[in-house]
Amino acid sequence: MSNSTPYQTILVTGGAGFIGSNFIHYWLKKYPQTKLINLDALTYAGNLENLKDVAHQSSYQFVKGNILDRELVDQIMSGVDAVVHFAAESHVDRSILEPAIFLETNVIGTQVLLAAALKHRVKRFHHISTDEVFGSLELWSKEQFHNHTPYDPRSPYSASKAASDHLARAYGETFGLPFVITNCSNNYGEYQFPEKLFSLAITNLIEGKNIPVYGDGKNIRDWLYVQDHCSAIDVVLHQGSDGETYLVGGLTEDVSNLEIVKMIIKLMGESEDKIEFVKDRLGHDRRYSVDWSTLNKKHGWKPSVTLEEGLAKTISWYRVNRQWWQPLKEKSQDFFKLNYQQKD
Ligand code: NAD
Ligand code: TYD
Repeated sequence: MSNSTPYQTILVTGGAGFIGSNFIHYWLKKYPQTKLINLDALTYAGNLENLKDVAHQSSYQFVKGNILDRELVDQIMSGVDAVVHFAAESHVDRSILEPAIFLETNVIGTQVLLAAALKHRVKRFHHISTDEVFGSLELWSKEQFHNHTPYDPRSPYSASKAASDHLARAYGETFGLPFVITNCSNNYGEYQFPEKLFSLAITNLIEGKNIPVYGDGKNIRDWLYVQDHCSAIDVVLHQGSDGETYLVGGLTEDVSNLEIVKMIIKLMGESEDKIEFVKDRLGHDRRYSVDWSTLNKKHGWKPSVTLEEGLAKTISWYRVNRQWWQPLKEKSQDFFKLNYQQKD
């Protein structure tokens, strides 16, 4: 893809989180002429450390604020060409412990942004969503999620993301807001808060701890390296059609959680004794698998790294960035106790 973009000012929400901060790095490197405004409330998952190397750039502006703040959002939206909306509560386990904030941020927060984007006539509202809205596929089946797979969310997290997707479509259909949606599979990579499977497994091994595997470990996710998610967003922002949904995934073969954990253990030179089976997550979705052939065939997008390559990069990053993740783990002890106690 070329290094020119029609967008002069982009509002990124949730840019201090995992994918948002990777996206800001990606974008400012490729399109330094764009002005990027990052609106982030800095919840437990938001961290300005992720962006300290771009903070000084004149094309980048950080605004600490909540997407639920209608007045602030209205002010910021003025002069914005495109919105890339990442801000959300994103962790399924937290949504099981405390669902309400998922509805506030993910549903109402999205509506606040949609309304302001409509009022200020943004050229494109890119809603970042998840494959989890489609529910759970059977283990061992060859079925995949497609653009027209009916919604069947099963966790408070995925239900709130499903509602936000419906709202984006409603603003398109009813009011003519130019929107696109990407439903992406599980991401892994640099700057992921150390509470998700990859980041928790890698950091636990560095700390000499076990890796908790839920249930029988046979659950399947369609893993994608975060930089490849960023390049897919780039493609859709520039080439996607208004009102369309694009599915983004990373793998072509099923890989179970247990296999992932064993790969991490092998790459880190550790022992499989570190695997600790714990009680299963409530309502644990069995299998996700994404058909990302439209992005591939129509737009030439594909992941740039294999799972092994992405994992090796990720492990190296967590090894040298202990000062980034250690304090986050320490601050999250209450959550870890609650989440894993419940599973003992
Ligand atoms: P994250 O939890 O790492 O980051 C979320 C960011 O949003 C944080 O910086 C947080 O401070 C900010 N935020 C939360 N509530 C806010 C509010 N009310 N106002 C302003 N900012 C707020 O999440 P992530 O993993 O980077 O996910 C980003 C988006 O991508 C989410 O919409 C998520 O649903 C979607 N997604 C994530 C994955 C994944 O594997 N992580 C996969 C597919 C889609
Ligand atoms: P996670 O990274 O939380 O993403 P999601 O729930 O959005 O898919 O979990 C990925 C898979 O790993 C999921 O099947 C749950 C499982 N898992 C574990 O087995 N142990 C853990 O400690 C965590 C956090 C997740």
